[in-house]
Amino acid sequence: MVNDRGNQLNQKDSPLVRLRDLSKSFGRVEAVKSINLDIKSRDFLAILGPSGCGKTTLLRLIGGFAEPSNGTIEIGGNDVTRLGPERRPTNMVFQGYGLFPHMTVRENIAYGLKIQKVSQSEREQRVDDVIGLVRLEELADRGTGELSGGQQQRAALARAIVMRPQVLLLDEPLAALDLKLRQAMQEELRRIHNEIGGTFVFVTHDQGEALALSNRIAVMDEGNIVQEGGPEDIYASPESRFVSTFIGEANILSGRRQNSVVTLAAGLDLPSSSGPDGAVILVIRPEAVQILSDNSQVDVRTEGTIVDKVYLGAYVRFQIQLSSDEFITANVPTLNLSKEYFSGDRIAVGWAGKDHRILMDS
Ligand SMILES: Nc1ncnc2c1ncn2[C@@H]1O[C@H](COP(=O)(O)OP(=O)(O)O)[C@@H](O)[C@H]1O
Ligand SMILES: [Mg+2]
Repeated sequence: MVNDRGNQLNQKDSPLVRLRDLSKSFGRVEAVKSINLDIKSRDFLAILGPSGCGKTTLLRLIGGFAEPSNGTIEIGGNDVTRLGPERRPTNMVFQGYGLFPHMTVRENIAYGLKIQKVSQSEREQRVDDVIGLVRLEELADRGTGELSGGQQQRAALARAIVMRPQVLLLDEPLAALDLKLRQAMQEELRRIHNEIGGTFVFVTHDQGEALALSNRIAVMDEGNIVQEGGPEDIYASPESRFVSTFIGEANILSGRRQNSVVTLAAGLDLPSSSGPDGAVILVIRPEAVQILSDNSQVDVRTEGTIVDKVYLGAYVRFQIQLSSDEFITANVPTLNLSKEYFSGDRIAVGWAGKDHRILMDS
C-alpha cells in the first residue's frame, strides 16, 4: 500500500515531457541550444519568443518532425528521441493548418483514425465527438476550401485532438486570424483544454496571447529558454532586460551598484540591493509609476518634466524626462488624477520599492 501510494505520487509529480540538453543545428545555425525543460501533465505551456528564435524547431523536435543534433526527449518516462512522429504520443497542428483541400471536414478529421485502422463505428463516434467539441457540426460535410480561417483552425484542431495525443503541439495556432477572432479562439482553446484535460504546448510570438492562455510560459531568445515560469511570475519578476521588455512594457533606467547601494543615472540612491558590484538596470512597469503630490509616501522618488501626455480613457499615459535625459512612461489611472497636468510641467514621480527589479546589465 505504502509503495503503491509512493509510486502514484511519483507519477503525479514527475513531468510528462522531459527535454535534456536538446539542441538542433542547421549547418552553422544553432536553432535550438541545449534546452532543458520539463512539461507537466495538463500543462498549457506557451513557448514564447520573437520570430526566428527557434520555437518551431523546438516543437518539431518534440513531435518527432526533426532529429536533434544532441540531447534527449522523454515522454511519459519513455525515451522517444529516435522515434518518428507516428510512434510518439504527440500530435501537431501546423502553422498553415495543412488540411487536405479535396476532403470534407469530416474526412479530414477521420483520416488519421483510418490510417490507424480504427473500426468504422468507433471512428464515427470519435469524429462526431470532436466535431461537437470544436463546434463544427453545421460544416462537417463541407470541403475545407469553403471554410473561413477560424473554421479551418477548428478543423485542424479537431483532426489532431481526435487522435487523443498525450501532448498536443500547436504552432502559432491563432496567428493567421484577425484580432476579434483570435480573442474568441483563445477562449475556445482554454475551454477545449479544460474539457479534454490534455497537455498543450503552443508556440507564439504574441506575449499577450501567452499571458492569456497558458499556465506556464517558456521564453525563448536565440535558441535558448531564457526564463520559465507562471505568467504572473514572468510578468512580475523578469530576470533579464530581454524578458522585461518582451513581456509587457517596461521602463529601464541605468545605474551602478557599489557595496549594495544602487545609484541611478537619474540621480537617486536606492538602498540595500544585494548583488555584485557593477552596471545594473532598474526595471519598472508603467502602471507602477505614480505622479506624486507633496505628501505622497513612496520608497523611490525623483523629479522630471512631462514631455508628452495622451488621454486613453481608463488611464493617462505620460512621458516624463528625468535629469539623466532618460524617459520614463507612467500609465496613471484617470480616476487617480487629482488635477490636470500639461506638457512642460515639472513633477515628482515615484514608485513602491517592491515594484521595481534591479538586474545586472548584461
Ligand atoms: N529546415 C531548416 N533549414 C535551415 N535552417 C532552418 C530550418 N528551420 C529553421 N531554420 C533556422 O533556424 C532558426 C530558427 O527557426 P524557427 O525554429 O523556425 O524559429 P521560429 O519558429 O521561432 O520563428 C532560424 O534561423 C531559421 O532560419
Ligand atoms: Mg515558427
